[in-house]
Amino acid sequence: MDLRHCVIPAAGLGTRFLPATKALPKELLPVLDRPVIQWGVEEAVAAGAGEIVVVISEGKELIQEHFSVQPELEALLQKRGKLDELEAVRASDHMASFTWVRQDEPLGLGHAVLCAADAVGDRPFLCMLPDDLSYGPDPVLRQLVDAYREHQTPILALMRVPRDQISRYGCAAVVESHGRIHRVSAVVEKPKAEDAPSDLAIMGRYVLTPNIFEALRSTQPGAGGEIQLTDGIATLLDAGAVHGVEFTGELLDVGTPAGWLATNARLAMDDPTLAVALRAAVEVGAR
Ligand code: G1P
Repeated sequence: MDLRHCVIPAAGLGTRFLPATKALPKELLPVLDRPVIQWGVEEAVAAGAGEIVVVISEGKELIQEHFSVQPELEALLQKRGKLDELEAVRASDHMASFTWVRQDEPLGLGHAVLCAADAVGDRPFLCMLPDDLSYGPDPVLRQLVDAYREHQTPILALMRVPRDQISRYGCAAVVESHGRIHRVSAVVEKPKAEDAPSDLAIMGRYVLTPNIFEALRSTQPGAGGEIQLTDGIATLLDAGAVHGVEFTGELLDVGTPAGWLATNARLAMDDPTLAVALRAAVEVGAR
């Protein structure tokens, strides 16, 4: 079945990026010339998902505005002959079709995904957390879609992390590995290093099957007192297989000031004009 929908939870507070995110949703912080969330939408579209379901909370309506048509701005750019800019503006509101869903209370990632149930309906879908940006020739979501086509099960993006970092993530225990694809035998959200069943972190990109909604409806608050997506996935494991892909390429953090800065620098180095500007700035700083 086609994976047409991509759910993007964007209801979080962005506390790791205060005060920048006091008024501005963290998803609208720019990375080079476009907001963080637009990179995510582009990745979803490249993976074949043309229906984007964004879960927002009160105060994050500005994200919706970014993806809607701005006729006055377009007319002005047209009149002034700024055609490249016009094209960039149009690209951001024509890239996909959007459904906006509200999460009224901050009850956790699992609850945010559950809020998208009606918009997605009874079909498998992609889910991505926009705090990391996919970097490399083969976008991470597309790798998950390929694995889904082969296995027809929920698919998790997995990455090996040093043991002392596993407590920041959901963690997956695996069996029956074939190259980079593993069958998942257990998942646990933010385990203590000494309790973690492996060094494989669940990295915020998923293919989910519609039974996740039923699982989340009966998921009780877990780590941090929140309804965790990982706990919903644990319930799916009772019902059938789940696979994980140790993806190639990288996910670059844009959810913290240090990660955001490093990601901007990495991407700038790939752009001839920006690379010159960045090198010059760093040289001045080093003097
Ligand atoms: C969320 C998920 C966690 C996952 C992580 C990836 O946690 O709950 O399983 O490993 O994203 O970034 P958060 O970072 O929102 O605390």
